[in-house]
Amino acid sequence: MQEKKIKVGIVGISFGMEFVPIYQRHPNVESVAVADYNRSLLATCAEKFHIPAEDCYTNLDDMLKDTSIDAIHICTPPASHAELSIKALNAGRHCGCTIPMGMSIDELYEVIEARKKSGKNYMFLETTVFGREFFYVQELYKKGELGKLQYMTCAHYQDMEGWPEYWEGFPPLMHPTHAVGPCLMMLDKKPVSVYGIGSGRVRDALKEKYQCPFAFESAFINLEDSDVTIEMERFLYEVARSYQECFRVYGSKKSFEWQQLSDEDPVLYERTGDIQQDMIDIDGDPDRFARGGEIIERRIKVPDYGYRLPEEIAFFTTETVYNDENEHLSFKQGGGHGGSHPHMIHEFIMSIVEDRKPLIDDIKGAYWTATGICAHLSAMEGGKKMPIPDFAKLD
Ligand SMILES: NC(=O)c1ccc[n+]([C@@H]2O[C@H](COP(=O)([O-])OP(=O)(O)OC[C@H]3O[C@@H](n4cnc5c(N)ncnc54)[C@H](O)[C@@H]3O)[C@@H](O)[C@H]2O)c1
Repeated sequence: MQEKKIKVGIVGISFGMEFVPIYQRHPNVESVAVADYNRSLLATCAEKFHIPAEDCYTNLDDMLKDTSIDAIHICTPPASHAELSIKALNAGRHCGCTIPMGMSIDELYEVIEARKKSGKNYMFLETTVFGREFFYVQELYKKGELGKLQYMTCAHYQDMEGWPEYWEGFPPLMHPTHAVGPCLMMLDKKPVSVYGIGSGRVRDALKEKYQCPFAFESAFINLEDSDVTIEMERFLYEVARSYQECFRVYGSKKSFEWQQLSDEDPVLYERTGDIQQDMIDIDGDPDRFARGGEIIERRIKVPDYGYRLPEEIAFFTTETVYNDENEHLSFKQGGGHGGSHPHMIHEFIMSIVEDRKPLIDDIKGAYWTATGICAHLSAMEGGKKMPIPDFAKLD
Protein backbone atom coordinates (compact mmCIF):
# COMPACT_ATOMS: atom_id res chain seq x y z
CA MET A 1 0.00 0.00 0.00
CA GLN A 2 1.26 3.48 -0.90
CA GLU A 3 2.05 5.69 2.08
CA LYS A 4 1.26 9.04 0.50
CA LYS A 5 -1.64 10.88 2.14
CA ILE A 6 -3.80 13.58 0.61
CA LYS A 7 -6.29 16.15 1.83
CA VAL A 8 -9.79 16.15 0.30
CA GLY A 9 -12.41 18.91 0.16
CA ILE A 10 -16.07 17.96 -0.33
CA VAL A 11 -18.37 20.64 -1.78
CA GLY A 12 -22.09 20.08 -1.16
CA ILE A 13 -22.70 18.03 1.95
CA SER A 14 -26.30 16.96 1.65
CA PHE A 15 -25.72 13.65 -0.19
CA GLY A 16 -22.02 14.56 0.03
CA MET A 17 -22.01 14.03 3.83
CA GLU A 18 -22.14 10.31 3.12
CA PHE A 19 -18.54 10.40 1.94
CA VAL A 20 -16.99 12.31 4.87
CA PRO A 21 -16.37 9.31 7.20
CA ILE A 22 -15.18 7.12 4.30
CA TYR A 23 -12.48 9.66 3.43
CA GLN A 24 -11.65 10.21 7.09
CA ARG A 25 -10.94 6.51 7.59
CA HIS A 26 -9.17 5.93 4.30
CA PRO A 27 -5.49 5.11 4.99
CA ASN A 28 -4.30 7.50 2.27
CA VAL A 29 -6.31 10.49 3.41
CA GLU A 30 -4.75 13.02 5.77
CA SER A 31 -7.88 15.05 6.49
CA VAL A 32 -11.20 16.25 5.06
CA ALA A 33 -12.55 19.76 4.59
CA VAL A 34 -16.17 20.55 3.73
CA ALA A 35 -18.04 23.37 1.99
CA ASP A 36 -21.72 24.18 1.76
CA TYR A 37 -23.81 27.34 1.39
CA ASN A 38 -26.03 25.99 4.13
CA ARG A 39 -24.40 27.01 7.42
CA SER A 40 -26.62 24.86 9.58
CA LEU A 41 -25.77 21.76 7.53
CA LEU A 42 -22.13 22.75 7.77
CA ALA A 43 -22.36 22.99 11.57
CA THR A 44 -24.11 19.60 11.80
CA CYS A 45 -21.44 17.97 9.65
CA ALA A 46 -18.58 19.62 11.55
CA GLU A 47 -19.98 18.45 14.88
CA LYS A 48 -20.78 14.92 13.72
CA PHE A 49 -17.39 14.30 12.14
CA HIS A 50 -15.18 16.52 14.35
CA ILE A 51 -14.10 18.78 11.50
CA PRO A 52 -12.22 21.86 12.79
CA ALA A 53 -13.68 25.30 11.97
CA GLU A 54 -10.72 26.16 9.71
CA ASP A 55 -11.72 23.25 7.43
CA CYS A 56 -15.34 24.38 7.03
CA TYR A 57 -16.23 26.76 4.18
CA THR A 58 -19.35 28.25 2.69
CA ASN A 59 -18.10 28.13 -0.89
CA LEU A 60 -15.55 26.49 -3.18
CA ASP A 61 -13.57 29.69 -3.85
CA ASP A 62 -12.64 30.03 -0.18
CA MET A 63 -11.90 26.32 0.09
CA LEU A 64 -9.48 26.54 -2.83
CA LYS A 65 -7.43 29.11 -0.89
CA ASP A 66 -6.25 26.24 1.33
CA THR A 67 -3.29 25.09 -0.73
CA SER A 68 -2.94 21.91 1.33
CA ILE A 69 -6.13 20.52 -0.28
CA ASP A 70 -5.16 18.14 -3.08
CA ALA A 71 -8.54 16.96 -4.34
CA ILE A 72 -12.08 18.33 -4.57
CA HIS A 73 -15.18 16.10 -4.51
CA ILE A 74 -18.21 17.92 -5.98
CA CYS A 75 -21.66 16.94 -4.74
CA THR A 76 -23.72 20.04 -5.55
CA PRO A 77 -26.81 20.22 -7.83
CA PRO A 78 -26.34 19.18 -11.51
CA ALA A 79 -26.25 22.61 -13.19
CA SER A 80 -23.14 23.54 -11.16
CA HIS A 81 -21.08 20.41 -11.89
CA ALA A 82 -19.16 21.53 -14.99
CA GLU A 83 -18.50 25.04 -13.63
CA LEU A 84 -17.21 23.81 -10.25
CA SER A 85 -15.18 20.98 -11.82
CA ILE A 86 -13.45 23.47 -14.13
CA LYS A 87 -12.83 25.81 -11.20
CA ALA A 88 -11.21 23.03 -9.15
CA LEU A 89 -9.07 21.82 -12.08
CA ASN A 90 -8.02 25.36 -13.01
CA ALA A 91 -6.91 25.81 -9.40
CA GLY A 92 -4.59 22.82 -9.87
CA ARG A 93 -6.65 20.32 -7.85
CA HIS A 94 -7.70 16.80 -8.70
CA CYS A 95 -11.44 16.64 -9.15
CA GLY A 96 -14.13 14.02 -8.61
CA CYS A 97 -17.67 14.96 -9.58
CA THR A 98 -20.98 13.27 -8.93
CA ILE A 99 -23.48 12.64 -11.72
CA PRO A 100 -24.19 14.13 -14.25
CA MET A 101 -20.83 15.32 -15.61
CA GLY A 102 -22.48 18.31 -17.30
CA MET A 103 -25.75 19.56 -18.70
CA SER A 104 -24.77 19.83 -22.38
CA ILE A 105 -22.24 18.45 -24.87
CA ASP A 106 -20.41 21.80 -24.72
CA GLU A 107 -19.99 21.50 -20.95
CA LEU A 108 -18.50 18.01 -21.37
CA TYR A 109 -15.92 19.39 -23.82
CA GLU A 110 -15.10 22.24 -21.42
CA VAL A 111 -14.42 19.84 -18.52
CA ILE A 112 -12.17 17.67 -20.73
CA GLU A 113 -10.27 20.74 -21.84
CA ALA A 114 -9.77 21.91 -18.24
CA ARG A 115 -8.59 18.45 -17.16
CA LYS A 116 -6.07 18.35 -20.00
CA LYS A 117 -4.76 21.83 -19.26
CA SER A 118 -4.45 21.13 -15.53
CA GLY A 119 -2.64 17.79 -15.85
CA LYS A 120 -4.69 16.70 -12.81
CA ASN A 121 -7.09 13.77 -12.46
CA TYR A 122 -10.79 14.04 -13.14
CA MET A 123 -12.97 11.16 -11.99
CA PHE A 124 -16.65 10.85 -12.88
CA LEU A 125 -18.21 9.55 -9.66
CA GLU A 126 -20.88 7.19 -11.02
CA THR A 127 -21.87 4.83 -8.20
CA THR A 128 -23.51 1.97 -10.14
CA VAL A 129 -20.26 0.62 -11.61
CA PHE A 130 -18.93 0.11 -8.06
CA GLY A 131 -22.02 -1.76 -6.85
CA ARG A 132 -21.96 -5.45 -5.97
CA GLU A 133 -24.35 -6.46 -8.79
CA PHE A 134 -22.06 -4.89 -11.37
CA PHE A 135 -18.96 -6.54 -9.87
CA TYR A 136 -20.76 -9.91 -9.92
CA VAL A 137 -21.84 -9.72 -13.58
CA GLN A 138 -18.51 -8.26 -14.65
CA GLU A 139 -16.78 -11.29 -13.13
CA LEU A 140 -19.09 -13.67 -15.03
CA TYR A 141 -18.40 -11.77 -18.25
CA LYS A 142 -14.62 -11.70 -17.78
CA LYS A 143 -14.55 -15.45 -17.04
CA GLY A 144 -16.48 -16.08 -20.28
CA GLU A 145 -19.41 -17.63 -18.39
CA LEU A 146 -22.02 -15.54 -20.20
CA GLY A 147 -20.90 -16.87 -23.60
CA LYS A 148 -21.47 -14.55 -26.54
CA LEU A 149 -23.05 -11.31 -25.31
CA GLN A 150 -26.25 -10.68 -27.28
CA TYR A 151 -28.13 -7.75 -25.75
CA MET A 152 -28.18 -5.49 -22.72
CA THR A 153 -30.95 -3.38 -21.26
CA CYS A 154 -30.81 -0.87 -18.45
CA ALA A 155 -33.11 1.51 -16.63
CA HIS A 156 -33.28 4.13 -13.93
CA TYR A 157 -36.75 4.66 -12.54
CA GLN A 158 -37.18 7.44 -10.01
CA ASP A 159 -40.15 9.44 -8.85
CA MET A 160 -38.86 12.99 -8.33
CA GLU A 161 -42.02 14.50 -6.83
CA GLY A 162 -40.93 16.49 -3.78
CA TRP A 163 -37.25 16.69 -4.79
CA PRO A 164 -35.57 20.13 -5.00
CA GLU A 165 -37.10 22.37 -7.69
CA TYR A 166 -34.00 22.22 -9.90
CA TRP A 167 -35.06 18.70 -10.90
CA GLU A 168 -38.46 19.81 -12.15
CA GLY A 169 -38.97 18.85 -15.79
CA PHE A 170 -35.45 17.43 -16.14
CA PRO A 171 -35.53 15.41 -19.39
CA PRO A 172 -35.28 11.77 -18.28
CA LEU A 173 -32.35 10.68 -20.46
CA MET A 174 -30.34 13.90 -20.05
CA HIS A 175 -28.96 12.23 -16.96
CA PRO A 176 -28.65 8.53 -17.88
CA THR A 177 -25.54 7.19 -16.23
CA HIS A 178 -27.06 5.19 -13.36
CA ALA A 179 -28.69 3.13 -16.12
CA VAL A 180 -26.17 3.01 -18.92
CA GLY A 181 -22.90 3.20 -16.94
CA PRO A 182 -22.75 -0.52 -16.07
CA CYS A 183 -23.55 -1.64 -19.65
CA LEU A 184 -20.94 0.62 -21.25
CA MET A 185 -18.38 -0.21 -18.56
CA MET A 186 -18.77 -3.95 -19.02
CA LEU A 187 -18.29 -3.94 -22.79
CA ASP A 188 -15.81 -1.05 -22.75
CA LYS A 189 -16.73 -0.09 -26.34
CA LYS A 190 -17.32 3.43 -27.56
CA PRO A 191 -21.00 4.34 -27.99
CA VAL A 192 -21.19 5.79 -31.52
CA SER A 193 -24.84 6.58 -32.12
CA VAL A 194 -28.20 6.46 -30.45
CA TYR A 195 -31.84 6.94 -31.22
CA GLY A 196 -34.39 7.82 -28.61
CA ILE A 197 -38.14 7.86 -28.32
CA GLY A 198 -40.28 9.82 -25.91
CA SER A 199 -43.45 8.36 -24.50
CA GLY A 200 -46.36 9.71 -22.48
CA ARG A 201 -46.72 13.27 -21.24
CA VAL A 202 -45.96 15.15 -18.00
CA ARG A 203 -48.10 18.01 -16.68
CA ASP A 204 -47.63 21.41 -18.33
CA ALA A 205 -45.77 22.98 -15.38
CA LEU A 206 -43.01 20.39 -15.74
CA LYS A 207 -42.42 21.29 -19.39
CA GLU A 208 -41.51 24.92 -18.77
CA LYS A 209 -37.78 24.73 -18.07
CA TYR A 210 -36.53 22.18 -20.61
CA GLN A 211 -39.53 21.96 -22.97
CA CYS A 212 -39.43 18.18 -22.61
CA PRO A 213 -43.00 16.83 -22.69
CA PHE A 214 -42.19 13.14 -22.15
CA ALA A 215 -42.83 11.07 -19.03
CA PHE A 216 -40.58 8.27 -20.26
CA GLU A 217 -37.62 8.27 -22.62
CA SER A 218 -36.20 5.08 -24.15
CA ALA A 219 -33.25 4.63 -26.49
CA PHE A 220 -31.18 2.14 -28.45
CA ILE A 221 -27.40 2.57 -28.46
CA ASN A 222 -24.95 1.35 -31.11
CA LEU A 223 -21.35 0.61 -30.19
CA GLU A 224 -18.14 0.72 -32.17
CA ASP A 225 -16.83 -2.72 -33.25
CA SER A 226 -19.67 -4.58 -31.60
CA ASP A 227 -22.91 -6.23 -32.71
CA VAL A 228 -24.44 -5.74 -29.25
CA THR A 229 -27.20 -3.16 -28.83
CA ILE A 230 -27.98 -1.52 -25.49
CA GLU A 231 -31.51 -0.43 -24.68
CA MET A 232 -31.95 2.18 -21.95
CA GLU A 233 -34.97 3.82 -20.38
CA ARG A 234 -35.72 6.32 -17.67
CA PHE A 235 -38.54 8.32 -16.10
CA LEU A 236 -38.62 10.97 -13.41
CA TYR A 237 -42.23 12.11 -13.11
CA GLU A 238 -45.80 10.81 -13.34
CA VAL A 239 -45.13 7.09 -13.65
CA ALA A 240 -46.33 4.70 -10.92
CA ARG A 241 -43.28 2.52 -10.44
CA SER A 242 -40.94 2.34 -7.46
CA TYR A 243 -37.25 3.24 -7.54
CA GLN A 244 -34.80 1.12 -9.45
CA GLU A 245 -31.36 1.46 -11.03
CA CYS A 246 -30.94 -1.78 -12.92
CA PHE A 247 -29.46 -3.64 -15.86
CA ARG A 248 -30.02 -6.97 -17.60
CA VAL A 249 -27.40 -8.80 -19.59
CA TYR A 250 -28.27 -11.51 -22.11
CA GLY A 251 -25.56 -13.97 -23.17
CA SER A 252 -25.68 -17.18 -25.24
CA LYS A 253 -24.79 -19.32 -22.18
CA LYS A 254 -25.96 -17.28 -19.17
CA SER A 255 -28.12 -14.22 -18.67
CA PHE A 256 -28.57 -11.94 -15.66
CA GLU A 257 -31.80 -10.15 -14.81
CA TRP A 258 -32.05 -7.59 -12.01
CA GLN A 259 -34.79 -8.35 -9.48
CA GLN A 260 -38.16 -6.79 -10.23
CA LEU A 261 -38.77 -5.74 -6.60
CA SER A 262 -36.04 -4.39 -4.34
CA ASP A 263 -36.45 -7.07 -1.67
CA GLU A 264 -36.02 -9.95 -4.15
CA ASP A 265 -32.80 -11.47 -5.50
CA PRO A 266 -31.66 -11.27 -9.13
CA VAL A 267 -32.18 -14.17 -11.54
CA LEU A 268 -29.47 -16.05 -13.39
CA TYR A 269 -30.54 -18.10 -16.43
CA GLU A 270 -28.27 -20.88 -17.64
CA ARG A 271 -28.40 -22.98 -20.80
CA THR A 272 -27.54 -26.59 -19.92
CA GLY A 273 -26.59 -28.04 -23.32
CA ASP A 274 -24.90 -26.84 -26.46
CA ILE A 275 -26.89 -24.60 -28.75
CA GLN A 276 -28.57 -26.76 -31.47
CA GLN A 277 -26.89 -30.06 -30.54
CA ASP A 278 -29.29 -30.79 -27.71
CA MET A 279 -32.27 -30.38 -30.02
CA ILE A 280 -31.28 -33.15 -32.45
CA ASP A 281 -32.19 -36.70 -31.45
CA ILE A 282 -29.99 -39.74 -31.85
CA ASP A 283 -30.98 -40.40 -35.50
CA GLY A 284 -30.19 -36.84 -36.47
CA ASP A 285 -33.86 -35.85 -36.74
CA PRO A 286 -35.23 -32.86 -34.92
CA ASP A 287 -36.98 -34.14 -31.80
CA ARG A 288 -40.42 -32.56 -31.72
CA PHE A 289 -40.60 -33.07 -27.94
CA ALA A 290 -37.34 -31.21 -27.32
CA ARG A 291 -37.91 -27.94 -29.05
CA GLY A 292 -36.07 -25.11 -27.36
CA GLY A 293 -32.96 -25.72 -25.28
CA GLU A 294 -33.08 -26.35 -21.55
CA ILE A 295 -32.66 -23.12 -19.60
CA ILE A 296 -32.33 -23.34 -15.82
CA GLU A 297 -33.53 -20.33 -13.84
CA ARG A 298 -32.47 -19.57 -10.29
CA ARG A 299 -32.35 -16.63 -7.92
CA ILE A 300 -28.84 -15.83 -6.75
CA LYS A 301 -27.35 -14.10 -3.71
CA VAL A 302 -24.91 -11.50 -4.97
CA PRO A 303 -21.81 -11.50 -2.74
CA ASP A 304 -20.35 -8.42 -1.10
CA TYR A 305 -16.97 -7.22 -2.37
CA GLY A 306 -15.79 -5.37 0.74
CA TYR A 307 -12.77 -7.71 0.86
CA ARG A 308 -11.30 -5.81 -2.12
CA LEU A 309 -10.95 -2.69 0.05
CA PRO A 310 -8.55 -1.60 2.80
CA GLU A 311 -9.98 -2.95 6.06
CA GLU A 312 -10.43 0.56 7.49
CA ILE A 313 -13.24 1.28 4.98
CA ALA A 314 -14.48 -2.21 4.01
CA PHE A 315 -17.45 -2.11 6.40
CA PHE A 316 -18.87 0.91 4.54
CA THR A 317 -20.17 -1.47 1.85
CA THR A 318 -22.93 -2.35 4.30
CA GLU A 319 -22.98 0.58 6.77
CA THR A 320 -23.63 4.16 5.78
CA VAL A 321 -24.05 7.61 7.24
CA TYR A 322 -27.56 7.64 5.84
CA ASN A 323 -29.62 4.77 7.21
CA ASP A 324 -33.06 4.07 8.69
CA GLU A 325 -32.58 6.60 11.49
CA ASN A 326 -30.84 9.22 9.40
CA GLU A 327 -32.44 9.28 6.00
CA HIS A 328 -31.42 10.84 2.70
CA LEU A 329 -34.11 10.22 0.13
CA SER A 330 -31.80 9.06 -2.67
CA PHE A 331 -30.28 6.56 -0.31
CA LYS A 332 -33.58 5.29 1.01
CA GLN A 333 -34.84 4.84 -2.54
CA GLY A 334 -31.57 3.56 -3.92
CA GLY A 335 -31.21 0.68 -1.47
CA GLY A 336 -27.74 1.84 -0.32
CA HIS A 337 -26.39 2.09 -3.87
CA GLY A 338 -25.14 -1.51 -3.83
CA GLY A 339 -22.31 -0.89 -1.35
CA SER A 340 -20.60 1.24 -4.00
CA HIS A 341 -19.46 4.29 -2.05
CA PRO A 342 -16.24 3.02 -0.42
CA HIS A 343 -15.18 1.31 -3.68
CA MET A 344 -15.69 4.53 -5.62
CA ILE A 345 -13.86 6.69 -3.07
CA HIS A 346 -11.00 4.18 -2.89
CA GLU A 347 -10.58 4.34 -6.68
CA PHE A 348 -10.59 8.16 -6.65
CA ILE A 349 -7.97 8.33 -3.89
CA MET A 350 -5.73 5.58 -5.27
CA SER A 351 -5.72 7.05 -8.79
CA ILE A 352 -4.26 10.22 -7.25
CA VAL A 353 -1.85 8.47 -4.90
CA GLU A 354 -0.64 6.11 -7.64
CA ASP A 355 -0.50 8.93 -10.19
CA ARG A 356 -2.64 7.12 -12.79
CA LYS A 357 -5.90 7.65 -14.62
CA PRO A 358 -9.00 6.85 -12.59
CA LEU A 359 -11.17 3.98 -13.81
CA ILE A 360 -13.91 6.42 -14.88
CA ASP A 361 -12.06 9.41 -16.27
CA ASP A 362 -13.43 12.47 -18.06
CA ILE A 363 -13.49 10.69 -21.43
CA LYS A 364 -15.62 7.79 -20.14
CA GLY A 365 -17.76 10.21 -18.14
CA ALA A 366 -18.33 12.30 -21.28
CA TYR A 367 -19.32 9.26 -23.39
CA TRP A 368 -21.74 7.99 -20.74
CA THR A 369 -23.32 11.40 -20.14
CA ALA A 370 -23.44 12.30 -23.86
CA THR A 371 -25.15 9.01 -24.71
CA GLY A 372 -28.13 10.21 -22.70
CA ILE A 373 -28.01 13.83 -23.88
CA CYS A 374 -27.97 12.65 -27.53
CA ALA A 375 -30.76 10.14 -26.82
CA HIS A 376 -32.90 12.93 -25.40
CA LEU A 377 -32.16 15.19 -28.40
CA SER A 378 -33.09 12.29 -30.68
CA ALA A 379 -36.37 11.77 -28.83
CA MET A 380 -37.15 15.47 -29.24
CA GLU A 381 -36.62 15.00 -33.00
CA GLY A 382 -38.94 12.01 -33.25
CA GLY A 383 -36.28 9.29 -33.10
CA LYS A 384 -33.68 10.68 -35.52
CA LYS A 385 -30.41 8.74 -35.22
CA MET A 386 -27.83 10.91 -33.42
CA PRO A 387 -24.06 10.50 -33.61
CA ILE A 388 -22.29 10.59 -30.23
CA PRO A 389 -19.21 12.86 -30.24
CA ASP A 390 -15.85 11.09 -30.46
CA PHE A 391 -14.39 12.28 -27.17
CA ALA A 392 -11.56 9.69 -27.28
CA LYS A 393 -9.75 11.62 -29.98
CA LEU A 394 -9.27 14.47 -27.46
CA ASP A 395 -7.47 12.27 -24.94
N1 LIG B 1 -26.03 7.67 -6.55
C1 LIG B 1 -25.52 8.84 -6.77
O1 LIG B 1 -24.49 8.94 -7.41
C2 LIG B 1 -26.23 10.08 -6.28
C3 LIG B 1 -27.22 10.01 -5.29
C4 LIG B 1 -27.77 11.21 -4.81
C5 LIG B 1 -27.37 12.43 -5.33
N2 LIG B 1 -26.42 12.44 -6.31
C6 LIG B 1 -25.99 13.74 -6.89
O2 LIG B 1 -25.47 14.54 -5.87
C7 LIG B 1 -25.78 15.90 -6.13
C8 LIG B 1 -26.36 16.53 -4.88
O3 LIG B 1 -27.56 15.87 -4.56
P1 LIG B 1 -28.34 16.20 -3.20
O4 LIG B 1 -29.54 15.35 -3.19
O5 LIG B 1 -27.40 16.16 -2.06
O6 LIG B 1 -28.74 17.73 -3.49
P2 LIG B 1 -29.28 18.82 -2.45
O7 LIG B 1 -29.90 19.90 -3.25
O8 LIG B 1 -30.08 18.16 -1.37
O9 LIG B 1 -27.95 19.35 -1.76
C9 LIG B 1 -26.98 20.09 -2.45
C10 LIG B 1 -26.14 20.81 -1.42
O10 LIG B 1 -25.13 21.54 -2.09
C11 LIG B 1 -25.06 22.87 -1.53
N3 LIG B 1 -24.53 23.74 -2.58
C12 LIG B 1 -25.07 23.98 -3.79
N4 LIG B 1 -24.23 24.70 -4.54
C13 LIG B 1 -23.14 24.94 -3.79
C14 LIG B 1 -21.92 25.64 -4.02
N5 LIG B 1 -21.66 26.24 -5.19
N6 LIG B 1 -21.02 25.69 -3.02
C15 LIG B 1 -21.27 25.09 -1.82
N7 LIG B 1 -22.41 24.40 -1.56
C16 LIG B 1 -23.33 24.33 -2.53
C17 LIG B 1 -26.47 23.18 -1.09
O11 LIG B 1 -26.48 24.15 -0.07
C18 LIG B 1 -26.95 21.83 -0.60
O12 LIG B 1 -26.70 21.61 0.77
C19 LIG B 1 -26.72 15.92 -7.33
O13 LIG B 1 -26.04 16.32 -8.48
C20 LIG B 1 -27.18 14.49 -7.48
O14 LIG B 1 -27.34 14.15 -8.84
C21 LIG B 1 -25.83 11.31 -6.77
